[in-house]
Amino acid sequence: MCGIVGYVGHSTGQVNIEHKALDVVLEGLRRLEYRGYDSAGIAVVADGAIESRKKSGKLSNLIGELEGNPLPESMTGIGHTRWATHGGPTDQNAHPHLSDGGKLALIHNGIIENFAELKLELLNEGVTFISETDTEVAAALLGHIYRNQLGGDNSNGGLTKAMQLACQRLEGAFTLLAVHADQPDVVVAARRNSPLVVGLGEGENFLGSDVSGFIDYTRRAVELGQDQIVTITADSVEITDFFGAPAEGKEYHVDWDPASAEKGGYPSFMEKEIHDQPDAVAQTLLGRSDLEGKLTLDEMRIDPELLKHINKIIVLACGTSAYAGQVAKYAIERWCRIATEVELSHEFRYRDPIVDENTLVVSISQSGETMDTLMAVRYAKEQGAKTISICNTNGSTIPRESDAVLYTHAGPEIAVASTKAFLAQITAAYLLGLYLAQLRGNMFQGEIKDVLADLGKIPAKIQEILDHEDRIKDLGVEMANAKSVLFLGRHVGFPVAMEGALKLKELAYIHAEGFAAGELKHGPIALIEEGQPVFVIVPSPRGRDSLHAKVVSNIQEVRARGAKTIVIAEEGDEAVKAYAEHVFYIPPTPTLLAPLLSTVPLQIFALALASAKGYDVDQPRNLAKSVTVE
Ligand code: F6R
Repeated sequence: MCGIVGYVGHSTGQVNIEHKALDVVLEGLRRLEYRGYDSAGIAVVADGAIESRKKSGKLSNLIGELEGNPLPESMTGIGHTRWATHGGPTDQNAHPHLSDGGKLALIHNGIIENFAELKLELLNEGVTFISETDTEVAAALLGHIYRNQLGGDNSNGGLTKAMQLACQRLEGAFTLLAVHADQPDVVVAARRNSPLVVGLGEGENFLGSDVSGFIDYTRRAVELGQDQIVTITADSVEITDFFGAPAEGKEYHVDWDPASAEKGGYPSFMEKEIHDQPDAVAQTLLGRSDLEGKLTLDEMRIDPELLKHINKIIVLACGTSAYAGQVAKYAIERWCRIATEVELSHEFRYRDPIVDENTLVVSISQSGETMDTLMAVRYAKEQGAKTISICNTNGSTIPRESDAVLYTHAGPEIAVASTKAFLAQITAAYLLGLYLAQLRGNMFQGEIKDVLADLGKIPAKIQEILDHEDRIKDLGVEMANAKSVLFLGRHVGFPVAMEGALKLKELAYIHAEGFAAGELKHGPIALIEEGQPVFVIVPSPRGRDSLHAKVVSNIQEVRARGAKTIVIAEEGDEAVKAYAEHVFYIPPTPTLLAPLLSTVPLQIFALALASAKGYDVDQPRNLAKSVTVE
């Protein structure tokens, strides 16, 4: 959830770099603000003291505070942008939290589960607290160990040693970053079940919750392992475990460029990311098959023999990623004839699921850090399942802990509401389905080649929809005062309906529900009254079965009860016109691939409606991009 940045550079004059801690940390926080925006804070070490500023609300409030009350120049700093867990989003609960008489500053992402017990212990030692946060307890513990247990002795590891001892006492999930006035050239960090990456510079080093925290300065990153501590100075990066044993991180190159994390001229990241979608799908397909249509998924590190014996697939994901999984289920079952379940990660491990070595667990996560999904993957591994991660973020925890990974190449997704990652996830899951079908002989090579050819046409078709987005935007603006919107779909259109509803809920804060069109008559139809807007995702009339006719009947059912129907249908489908207030056509495509197109107008609609209401579409209330708590 929270965004974390750390920086150490050389004092001016020592090497030819001009970065200052404050600038680097603020830039990192700006890029990481999507992770949480309840408050922001920063601490620097200057002239043998810690100076910190923090402010509730968005980063702009902190920047305002810094203008009125500037920080001294410094080469060592840490910064935090918060998504509140313990304690409301107030100035006092904002990070950094100080201890050791104001000489130590600490920031934190995650939850310290044993904070109450530690707090009591520290209170008994005479420590006082001013916030309601678990973070302040971690800061106090670290300060107490540094001063009382180690005597403030920096010759014996100082802050690093104190961090090791503190982490041995902490339970839960955490990334911690700390600076101390007595060690002005050092930032010490720790991670357990929470993300942290190191950025390697020349005469400067960086820390970030993810690489966007330092992408303006370096592309060289180091992944930290579980339960590791890292101490950075301007010239060194030292990693240990929680007990002081030396450890190694894995260096990798970051292939995102900073420009792709910027808005590219669009008013919001979300709008840019909707327009990135042709490229996101194209990039995800790139280089994964040869001219004969033979798939070569290089990242698939699971022995193909094992994959041949899989008898069940369980897809684990949350939110939008789970809807991508639900879409993929239709294709995977059709192409591979393997029973496929899709389960919300947070429900999975609490129901005693039937999982064994013949189960393939496919997790889908844009961030690769969603705690619910990570825990579910770990559980599945313990039960002997093979695990594949479909993920958009290089080096994140879920792919690292999975047996294999299929990266989506959608580029950084900054807006909290997921758009391009969704289409890229469906694309990647389809590649996986086709790969399994190829491996197990469920499809002829020619059939696989045909599907790949159809997938290859999707980017241009998405672009066609985007080129005509004005009509759906206008409808969004026109409907800005809607109180409730329903979405109906059948087959692959059902998860698309739920995704359309989710986008509207999270961006425009209005009641929205997605239903299986056939389910309506079993209850939800009672919601329909005069003027109720209902979106209907209509399948292609060219399909082999009677899906189209069934959905057209469902439109008539709601219309007869006063609904205002808005239909997404295939170009040339004249039959729907008679029953729709508005029709939005998408280019013809095979039924299984249609979600890659029919989702796009729903994203644009939600964006336009929320923008018309004056809401911040990139940072909707109460949400955060990366949900790293359970
Ligand atoms: C909705 C949205 C969320 C995420 C969910 C999973 O627009 O973005 O529902 O899809 O929190 O996140 P990841 O994919 O990072 O695991």
